[in-house]
Amino acid sequence: MSETTHSNDAVWRDNEMVASWVARSDERERGRLSARQMMADLLPFSVGESFTFVDLGAGTGAASRAVLDRYPRARAVLADYSPQMMEEGRRELEAYEGRFSYVEIDLEQGRWPAELEAGLQAVISSLCVHHLTDRRKEGLFGEIFERLAPGAWYLNYDPVKAEDPEVEQAWAAAHDRRDPQAAERRAHRSEEEQARYENHVRHIIPLSPQLGFLRAAGFEAVDAYWKELDHVIMGGRRPAL
Ligand SMILES: C[S@@+](CC[C@H](N)C(=O)[O-])C[C@H]1O[C@@H](n2cnc3c(N)ncnc32)[C@H](O)[C@@H]1O
Repeated sequence: MSETTHSNDAVWRDNEMVASWVARSDERERGRLSARQMMADLLPFSVGESFTFVDLGAGTGAASRAVLDRYPRARAVLADYSPQMMEEGRRELEAYEGRFSYVEIDLEQGRWPAELEAGLQAVISSLCVHHLTDRRKEGLFGEIFERLAPGAWYLNYDPVKAEDPEVEQAWAAAHDRRDPQAAERRAHRSEEEQARYENHVRHIIPLSPQLGFLRAAGFEAVDAYWKELDHVIMGGRRPAL
């Protein structure tokens, strides 16, 4: 097992780590409402349409919920590799019974479950791709492209790194103004929070190479469709036939 996979496992496949992440998720989600809504808005479906989308690294389903709420006839396949996150997600998604299922996938491995092999109507991911090495980010975008139906979209909400240290500083300063407790929390991280933070930042890279990975995979209409400081929604469409 690589060091990367191991540290990711230590965060996402550990009962206590997941419990402490879940305990603060409502608070974090309050700051993400506009991104969650935008992801739903960007999908090219009419509100009453029936379709199935795949949420990669879905965790407890925060991104899926926004899409399921927006499109009452949509169905979600949530894919993740953490038994703890999936168990918590099944509890949190009870109100959507019959409109979702979980499948197991390890995005580091590039092996997909049979039910996700082809013809996918839309794929989303949120706050997960940054856990993968650059080689796997690039590989994953290609694997998604191959499995999407012609004309279907992939959208990814994720943090990015600034290419210019001054930009990074400006992002951090604006972030701290909006969250006056952030600096205090940074200075007093518990051991567990520090481990989670280090795992969080390990593979975050700038936006432009990721737009390049999307284009190289074959996507068209590639853009950062939404951006707030270091968080973006990037994506594109598989060309129609
Ligand atoms: C920060 S959480 C985000 C969860 C959810 N997408 C959201 O927006 O709240 C990261 C998720 O990525 C999943 N994950 C991390 N590495 C993964 C991998 N190699 N394969 C599949 N899922 C992975 C974790 O289990 C976790 O559920």
